[in-house]
Amino acid sequence: MNIRYGIVGTGYFGADLARALKTNDGAIISAVYDPENGETIAQELGCDNTDSLLALVSRDDVDCVVVATPNYLHKEPVLLAAQHKKHVFCEKPIALNYADCKEMVETCKKHGVIFMAGHIMNFFNGVHHAKELINSGVIGKVLYCHSARNGWEDVQPSISWKKIREKSGGHLYHHIHELDCIQFLMNGMPETVTMTANNVAHQSEHFGDEDDMLFINMEFSDGRFAVLEYGSAFRWGEHYVLIQGEKGAIKIDMYHCGGTLRVDGKDSHFLVHESQAEDDDRTRIYTSTEMDGAIQYGKPGKRTPQWLNSIIHKEMAYLHKIMSGMKPTAEFEKLLTGEAALAAIATADACTLSRYQNRKVALAEIVK
Ligand SMILES: NC(=O)c1ccc[n+]([C@@H]2O[C@H](COP(=O)([O-])OP(=O)(O)OC[C@H]3O[C@@H](n4cnc5c(N)ncnc54)[C@H](O)[C@@H]3O)[C@@H](O)[C@H]2O)c1
Repeated sequence: MNIRYGIVGTGYFGADLARALKTNDGAIISAVYDPENGETIAQELGCDNTDSLLALVSRDDVDCVVVATPNYLHKEPVLLAAQHKKHVFCEKPIALNYADCKEMVETCKKHGVIFMAGHIMNFFNGVHHAKELINSGVIGKVLYCHSARNGWEDVQPSISWKKIREKSGGHLYHHIHELDCIQFLMNGMPETVTMTANNVAHQSEHFGDEDDMLFINMEFSDGRFAVLEYGSAFRWGEHYVLIQGEKGAIKIDMYHCGGTLRVDGKDSHFLVHESQAEDDDRTRIYTSTEMDGAIQYGKPGKRTPQWLNSIIHKEMAYLHKIMSGMKPTAEFEKLLTGEAALAAIATADACTLSRYQNRKVALAEIVK
C-alpha cells in the first residue's frame, strides 16, 4: 500500500524529512508547499510544487501532511490538514502557547487523524535505553533530572527567525526536546515550576531578542525534582540529560556524546545514537563549530549532520509504519496524539508565566 505525503516548509529540516521519508517502501512524496524553497526541493524530489497551502492539503494524493515551517507558522497548516482529513506530522515546538497547541490537538482528534509531534529525542537509542533501565528498576526511583543545553552565540551573518522570541519562542520552546524528554522520563508534568531568565549578553541589533540564560526548577509529585538550563550566554557549553535515581544514575551526554550508567560506583557505557561512529561524529561537531553545538542552527540548503540524519530516518520510518497501520507501543501513544507535545508546551507556558510574574507557578493554572 502506498502512503502519499505532502510537505509544508522545505527548508533545512523539511527537505531532509522528505528525503528520509522517500527512502521508505511505499512512501511517495506527492507535493510540497514552500513559497521560498518549494521549487528547488520539488525538482530534487520529483514531485509537484504547489502554490498555496490550501492546494496542498486539498489534494486527493496526499494522505499525510508533514509540517516543517518556522515555529510560529505551524498552526494554520496543522488545522487545515486535519480539517481535510489528512494525518499530520508536525515539527517541534508544536505551538508557542498552550491554547494554540490544545486547539491543534483537539482538531486532529475531532477529525480522527494522527498528530505526531517531531520530538526526535524519543528515537535516540540512548533515551530508549535509559527508559528501559528506569522501567526495569536498575536505578531505583528517579529522584531528580538535570538537563543543560547551552553554549555561546557569536554574531551571525544574519539574524535567524530562530533567535526571535515571537517566531521561535526562544531557547525554551525552540529546544523543547529536553523538557519533553524529562517529562517522558518522569512520567508526566511537574506540579509547579519556577523560571528565572534574561538576555544578559546579547543585547544589540546584531542579535535576536530571546533570553540567553534560562534556569528552570520543577517540582514533581512524590518529592521529585528537575532542573533545566538553556541558553547562548555560556562560554562553557554543555548538553546532557542526567537522571539521578535512588540506586544509581544515568547520564545521556550529547556534547561528549555517549551514555553512562552508574550503579554501585561502577560505570558502564551505551550509545546515544545508532553507532559509535554517529556518537563520535556528534562529539566532533560539538567540539569544533564556530557556534556551540548545542545551540547551533541549520538554514535552508544546509544538510543535517550524520547523527541527526540517521535519527530523522528512524523517525520517518516510524511515521511511515504508523501510517501503514502499525499500532504504537504504550510508550509512544501520546507522541502520536499530540498529548505529549501539549504537556511540554503547558510546562513551558508555566515557566514563561513564572519568569514574567516572578513567582512559582502551578501547572494547574495553565492546564484547563
Ligand atoms: N527536530 C529537530 O531536531 C529539528 C531541527 C531543526 C528544525 N526543526 C524544526 O523544523 C521546523 C523548520 O525549521 P528549519 O530549521 O527547517 O527552518 P528553515 O528556516 O531552514 O526552513 C523553514 C522553511 O519554511 C518555509 N516557510 C516559511 N513560511 C512558510 C509558510 N507560511 N508556508 C510554507 N513554508 C514556509 C521557508 O521558506 C523555509 O524554507 C521548525 O519548527 C524547527 O523548530 C526541528
